[in-house]
Amino acid sequence: MAKIKKIAVLTSGGDAPGMNAAIRAVVRAALHNQLEVFGIMYGYEGMITGEIIPLKSRDVSNIIHRGGTILGSARSATFKTPEGRRKAYENLMKHEIDALVVIGGDGTFRGAGIFSQEYDIPCVGIPGTIDNDMYGTDFTIGFDTALNTVVQALDKIKDTANSHRRVFLVEVMGRDAGYLALRSGVATGAEGILIPEVDGQIEELLDTLGHSPKTSRIVVVAEGETEGGIHQVAKQIKDKYPDFDIRVNVLGHMQRGGSPSAFDRFLASRLGVEAVQALLDNQRSIMIGFERHDVVHVPFNKTIKQKPLFNRDLMNVAHLLL
Ligand code: F6P
Repeated sequence: MAKIKKIAVLTSGGDAPGMNAAIRAVVRAALHNQLEVFGIMYGYEGMITGEIIPLKSRDVSNIIHRGGTILGSARSATFKTPEGRRKAYENLMKHEIDALVVIGGDGTFRGAGIFSQEYDIPCVGIPGTIDNDMYGTDFTIGFDTALNTVVQALDKIKDTANSHRRVFLVEVMGRDAGYLALRSGVATGAEGILIPEVDGQIEELLDTLGHSPKTSRIVVVAEGETEGGIHQVAKQIKDKYPDFDIRVNVLGHMQRGGSPSAFDRFLASRLGVEAVQALLDNQRSIMIGFERHDVVHVPFNKTIKQKPLFNRDLMNVAHLLL
């Protein structure tokens, strides 16, 4: 196998706090190992359009604490086509890039897996998404920061909800996964939590709301819940309890921004260094995960195909503490 001399790093999919810390770790670890490093702008889009820039140590100074990603991100439809990937390969060859580190979620790894097979370019992935919905890692970069952002928002909403004795439905991100909703609900003592992993939660919610004391009531609703959306849930509550003063808040993209937490900076640094080491050890098509406080290597085809096991115990904790 030819020795790797030049690598490139990109961020793809929804951005997440800590992606900059991961870029910094990849760049500095690569330079430490005498590799040349390039940054690809806007994920796979930049590979196709040729927006590829050299990265030196100073280029990643002062970014460990910054949210977003200095490389930009995108969900590239063109990279899903063979023509798009061919163009991307040609651009990599112009810079003689031997290997890739891709930071993102399962869509990012799916793209890298196909590309690596087609063009024999080793790719290693680092999990970065606020949703925490990746198989093979206990945490994804950005989840801890987003969780703390949601908890702060819920605490504030609770203040005003208490003052007015209102019912608040708060939508948090998580198209396919309820990690943010479940953990923030437990951490703030929410009266209800609706998540995509569980069907038929509305009856139980209506029952609980009817029994809870008449001060404030907070219901955390994951984006991908199964009851027809937050406004539909609000309507059902109003139909059953016409006296309730209900407000709906959608937290939205503020959950994706902000300075990364200490944990996300640590995680990103650890996984970034390991990703470079894995490439140097001739590994390919793997995600660097973090399980039981240690780094693990998980094949792309495992992490793409499998869903993380839903932790029913935590749901039970939430119910017990209502
Ligand atoms: O990053 C994942 C995620 O936050 C999902 O929870 C959410 O559904 C989605 O991104 C929204 O992303 P966008 O608005 O960028 O398409």
